Amino acid sequence: MKVELATSYGFCFGVKRAIEIAEKHKNSATMGPLIHNQNEIDRLENDYNVGLYKSLEDVKDNQTVIIRTHGIPKNDLKFLRAKDTKVINATCPFVTTPQQIVKKMSKEGYSILIFGDNDHPEVKGVQSYGEDQDDVHIVINPNEIDSIKFKHDKVATIAQTTKKKEKYLEIVNALILKNKEVRVFNTICDATLENQDAAKALSQKVDLMIVIGGKNSSNTKQLHSICIENCKDSYLIENEKDLKPQWFKNKSHCGLTAGASTPDWVIQAVLKYIEKV
Ligand code: F3S
Repeated sequence: MKVELATSYGFCFGVKRAIEIAEKHKNSATMGPLIHNQNEIDRLENDYNVGLYKSLEDVKDNQTVIIRTHGIPKNDLKFLRAKDTKVINATCPFVTTPQQIVKKMSKEGYSILIFGDNDHPEVKGVQSYGEDQDDVHIVINPNEIDSIKFKHDKVATIAQTTKKKEKYLEIVNALILKNKEVRVFNTICDATLENQDAAKALSQKVDLMIVIGGKNSSNTKQLHSICIENCKDSYLIENEKDLKPQWFKNKSHCGLTAGASTPDWVIQAVLKYIEKV
């Protein structure tokens, strides 16, 4: 079995930064999962005693709270800062940027359109920065734009950092057809684009593709959907335990990529398994 890694895969700048912050703050806790990768969260808990708060009400006084990579809603941050806790913000700077754009543009009288998943923590956080919550709209498909009633005749749009650029272009096109003034901010982060382009190129030349990452990780799911367009035998796994020997039958060239929050030790364990198939 020839195994080939994508030219760009795995940990991005924002995730590396958040993990370094967590490792520097032993005995702390994160507000929401720090990153979308349970294996790495377990490692931080076991090796650094970094716990997890699922809700604001659980946060104890006098504890260090680390804000997760995807950020949290504005009022939640305000609540934590008002408490007797030390708040360390590990929100990725590429997520802070759309938060600030939404704040600024809505102050300037623009309606806001977010291209993203409305139940994703990053999107919920970014949405919260809008001045008028009734005029911050979230869509996942261009055809949803027709039914939106914007309060202003000028619209500013941003994308969730991990979305596909081609789909964002479709959203922008639909928006321009409907509005006189559209301000477009490309907030898709470079790490995602590089991993996506590399996954696309690799999946075009292999007969089997393995994508490693958390099943709740948006960027990992995007990688998988790109791979499956080019290689029908593309599988999304969390770690080596999810691999099935039958996937490798009659295959000779296996491609490997990993989401932006997949630690290298998980990737190495998968590689080791495949080499033995
Ligand atoms: Fe940040 Fe992009 Fe990673 S938004 S967390 S650098 S995928």
